[in-house]
Amino acid sequence: MRMMKAIAVKMILVAFLVGPGVAQSADRNANTSKTEKYRLVWFEDPATTATFVWNQLGGEPAVLHYGPRNFDRKASEYPWKKKADRVVEFDGMTNCMVTLRDLEPDSWYFMVLSDDFGVSRRFYFRTAPDKPEPFTFIAGGDSRNFRDVRQDANTMCRKLQPLFVAFTGDMINHDNAIEWGEWLDDWQLTISENGRLLPIVPHRGNHEARAASIPSHFGMPDDSYAAFNVGGDLFRYYILNSQIPADGSQGDWFKSDLVENAKGVTHLVAGYHKPMRPHTSGKSLGQNSYKWAELFYAAGFDLVLESDSHVMKRTLPVKPDADSPGGFKAAIGDPNATIYVGEGCWGAPLRRADVNYPWTVDRASFNGFDWILVTPKAIFDKTVKVEKVSSLGEVDLKDPFKDPEGLALWKPEGGDEVLEIPAD
Ligand SMILES: [Fe+2]
Repeated sequence: MRMMKAIAVKMILVAFLVGPGVAQSADRNANTSKTEKYRLVWFEDPATTATFVWNQLGGEPAVLHYGPRNFDRKASEYPWKKKADRVVEFDGMTNCMVTLRDLEPDSWYFMVLSDDFGVSRRFYFRTAPDKPEPFTFIAGGDSRNFRDVRQDANTMCRKLQPLFVAFTGDMINHDNAIEWGEWLDDWQLTISENGRLLPIVPHRGNHEARAASIPSHFGMPDDSYAAFNVGGDLFRYYILNSQIPADGSQGDWFKSDLVENAKGVTHLVAGYHKPMRPHTSGKSLGQNSYKWAELFYAAGFDLVLESDSHVMKRTLPVKPDADSPGGFKAAIGDPNATIYVGEGCWGAPLRRADVNYPWTVDRASFNGFDWILVTPKAIFDKTVKVEKVSSLGEVDLKDPFKDPEGLALWKPEGGDEVLEIPAD
């Protein structure tokens, strides 16, 4: 029975994830335009909407040519074109932003930029499904300091081919032009050899000291919080901002969004930077983010993604309880209980994982991220170690949650390599 189920899931995944049969063209990766530092950003309904951002190095902002069929770099062959909606001068870059709307769900789109100088390489991406279908995503954060680790983690994202990456803050160490330039260059490693863009879902961390950084580099709303569904009612994701009050206008929005949009959703997941209860003594308690704990519990959030501490952790399903250690108690079997994972190490200096709670499954100190499969029956989470990246194989898109050759997983003591969170 179990095997039958596995085969059924695999078949659905094949239908969803197998590529668009992209024709190979010798010059598809040439770039004669003055554009660079590409990123595709998701924060609005990703079944129909995507924001593409690039740095224009000279001349007028490029025009985006796009459509459902591949015309390689022949810009004029694409059926649609769109000029930049916004141009933001920031950190010495000319960040051009185009938001594509009214896209078809679960569909491939191909595109190029053309400017006064020439045409960019050919890119393509897939919109999110709007019906309940399995998909994978990656969650992690804190890429601040060590570019070699950051580049390795980015390369791993490319090899694992998730639907999107939820990046939970602290991209950079110093919030300045040099570090953002380097970070955006390193992000190019997430683009596949034949131009597939991996959407990023950005979150603000404390090292994004300027409130304008995330909006200016990714086109996010000013306060950098938002929510969207993937797979219709299968999954709703909340991008929260732990650098501004958790209550106040963000809290009001969050509460009303839960009332309007969370009912009937199978899996509720949130991500933000500052953990409620860091698993290192080097960090103080997240009193601001802890204000969300009751809301998560009341709404029945399944999984919450935290960052900032530069350790890795996994908790039991917990519920907030002021009289229990750390303000939580284990609530195994409680359909409203929430599992917390994180806490961010994508190249930031590792800290000692020296704090433990009765409801902690395990914690450890290594560079890694969470690789997550969402299905109608359950969420599955593997915590992946960033190591031996050059010998790591690529995910077989016919079986997109199967470990590629050479993938190292964390085995939490007292837990499973693959965490299963049933739909409830
Ligand atoms: Fe941080």
